[in-house]
Amino acid sequence: MSVHTFDEITVESLRAANGKKWVEFGSATGAWIAEMDFGTAPAVQSTLRRAVETGEGLGYLPTRSRAALQSAFSGFVDARFGWQVAPADVRPIVDVLSGLQAAVRLTSRPGSPVILPTPAYMPFLTLPGALDREVIQVPLQRENGRYVYDLDALDAAFAAGGHLLVLCNPHNPVGRVLERSELQAISEVVERHGGRVFADEIHAPLTYPGHRHVPYATISPAAAAHTFTAMSGSKAFNLPGLKCAQLVLSSDADRETWSRLGGPYEDQASTLGALAATAAYAEGGAWLDGVLDYLDGNRQTLTELAAEHLPSAVTTELEGTYLAWLDLTTTGLEDPARFFREHADVAATAGSLCGEAGQGFLRFNIALPRPLLVEAITRMGAALAGR
Ligand SMILES: Cc1ncc(COP(=O)(O)O)c(C=O)c1O
Repeated sequence: MSVHTFDEITVESLRAANGKKWVEFGSATGAWIAEMDFGTAPAVQSTLRRAVETGEGLGYLPTRSRAALQSAFSGFVDARFGWQVAPADVRPIVDVLSGLQAAVRLTSRPGSPVILPTPAYMPFLTLPGALDREVIQVPLQRENGRYVYDLDALDAAFAAGGHLLVLCNPHNPVGRVLERSELQAISEVVERHGGRVFADEIHAPLTYPGHRHVPYATISPAAAAHTFTAMSGSKAFNLPGLKCAQLVLSSDADRETWSRLGGPYEDQASTLGALAATAAYAEGGAWLDGVLDYLDGNRQTLTELAAEHLPSAVTTELEGTYLAWLDLTTTGLEDPARFFREHADVAATAGSLCGEAGQGFLRFNIALPRPLLVEAITRMGAALAGR
């Protein structure tokens, strides 16, 4: 059996590269922050090298390069998701979280709470507070081990004054890829209350066989009219430090608002990030497919290893993303992340940081070279067994 080149990536090389995932917690295996250990697409690397050498990447973003990003993004989402987006509707922004800030400021009623299905990506719990918005947490429900929206609770959150729903799909941290019928049901609740949606689809290119990403804004004209969508190459092409995401406008009202007020958000996007994203979307497809294939193998490895070494953990099937969600509530561990850091030398994310619904859970990043994934889970199993 041939060895995959990703299998040969060593801890030493990851540390030598000074990646945050590998250097913040001493000798611990980096399974926490959402970065991958596989570098990025060759086309992105050569684009960045050239952009630094010529100086193009060091200046402000020329209109021509912005247009190239807009059209590369349109081509990518059409090819991957069958979503036809006019290039002019693709607006470069610095990152997805700045897109959420824009959505809160520009679309939600002043002071109205933000509705957040939980568990959730950690900054979603705190960012609204910085904008004088409370957060209404709406816990997802588990049906036959699969997380689903609680539509009655969502309805109640809107009735309680919530106005902007943060709809993360594919979902960090529970790994669901919502089906069209689920998105339709959610949009009906939103419409009933005249609400708005911030669709965070940053993990959209990272869906596994058997699942298909449906952009929320495509499901109906009503959904398009109440939605701002944010995407980025930062997860799928591993570019989070380059600071260029894309906000997609899908209604005339939002186009008009953005033309008046969106400028300051766009001006913050980085030129190197825009050039890298353009190369990723236009030329990185084959690399991405290879990564997805490898991650698919890791996801299967995790399921098998968890059954063997962590029998008390309940794993939810990962439909998309490389962030696994382990239910360790039956182990009685109060803080599983701390336990595994101290006793297995593995750094993963505490589920409690994802909201009350994450207490007793662990978010584990599987975008590791497979031998390191195997070692980490084996050590975690030994630590649990040795308690
Ligand atoms: C669901 C989700 N949204 C947003 C982000 C952050 O993206 P950005 O760095 O573009 O703000 C992440 C990063 O892991 C994420 O998982």
